[in-house]
Amino acid sequence: MSNATDGDGADSLDSLDSLNSLIMALPKAELHVHLEGSIVPELALKLAARRGVALPGAERGVEGLREAYRFASFRDFLKVYIALSNTLQQAEDFSDAVFGIAEGLAAQQVRWVEMTFTPMTHVVQGVDPDAMLAGLADGRRRALEQLGIEFAWVFDVVRSLPEQGPQTLELALRARDQGVVALGVGGPEGPQWSVVPLAGVFERAHAEGLKSVPHAGEQHGPPSLRETLDLLAPARIGHGVRCLEDPELTAELADRGIPLEVCPSSNVALGVVPSFTAHPLPQLLAAGVELSLASDDPPLFGTTLTEEYRRCVSAFGWGPEQVLKIAAAAVRHSFMPEDRKRALLAAQRSVAQAHASLP
Ligand code: ADE
Ligand code: ZN
Repeated sequence: MSNATDGDGADSLDSLDSLNSLIMALPKAELHVHLEGSIVPELALKLAARRGVALPGAERGVEGLREAYRFASFRDFLKVYIALSNTLQQAEDFSDAVFGIAEGLAAQQVRWVEMTFTPMTHVVQGVDPDAMLAGLADGRRRALEQLGIEFAWVFDVVRSLPEQGPQTLELALRARDQGVVALGVGGPEGPQWSVVPLAGVFERAHAEGLKSVPHAGEQHGPPSLRETLDLLAPARIGHGVRCLEDPELTAELADRGIPLEVCPSSNVALGVVPSFTAHPLPQLLAAGVELSLASDDPPLFGTTLTEEYRRCVSAFGWGPEQVLKIAAAAVRHSFMPEDRKRALLAAQRSVAQAHASLP
């Protein structure tokens, strides 16, 4: 079977073209993407103008903002992230943000998205929680009705602000019938930010039937993953790539079948790995770790979900089987109802068969 790195000339170009069209056409699930980090410059300018919010570089329009989206450290990244968060103030802002992001996802044939949202970031800025939840629900409804894309929500707690955990859970439970499926943990990760203070909140979330999908093993290594596994009972882990620093931990993730949401361009942009080609995704697969491919904060990392697939094709020489396998993994690891999973997996197989002469 040919792949993108085989040979040269017309054959490999043909195979790249056909892989590109397979990547675009496959109906997909996206399991790790943040609402606040998905606001493209055009949408950010519109939202900021509406509320008179100053965004870095915005005096030079879309180009200036695009430049501000290129940052040098996790701290700088957080600054842009917080500025984007501040554009969301009233119900229609949340609704328009969700719908605008949904348009970009639908254009990539994403059919199911588990989107992370940090409610307390907004509430502590004075946003009315009822207006915020109403806006999210309205955007989600419009996305489903007009674009056929379904949103489920992961409400997350900032790891360095564990005191916001109980209220985050309370909001998640309040918005359960609007599609909240899980509680997450995001923000800075390091030895000084233990998840011990969040253990009780996650225990209550579990008792209420919410899943746990924390970030861990991104900016900090095995100790963070160990603690997360022991205290938060994760259904999946955001990133988790630094498990490879501890072979036993890697084997445990593989044996327990706890999937990782791997976001390679995010890891490159935030300095977790030196380059896309050096990303340890192939080592994780070789170790038997379950994983899906995701985009995290796509415009901030100069990527999209389909671009992540394309970059894997070019960096790791993936062929159509591997593309399909990874796309199917996202569906299998998702919190979709089982009958819908089966339908989406079948749709993926038939698109792949039509595109790539797969059996
Ligand atoms: N919030 C948004 N993106 C994040 C990331 N890559 N790590 C932790 N928290 C985040
Ligand atoms: Zn993330």
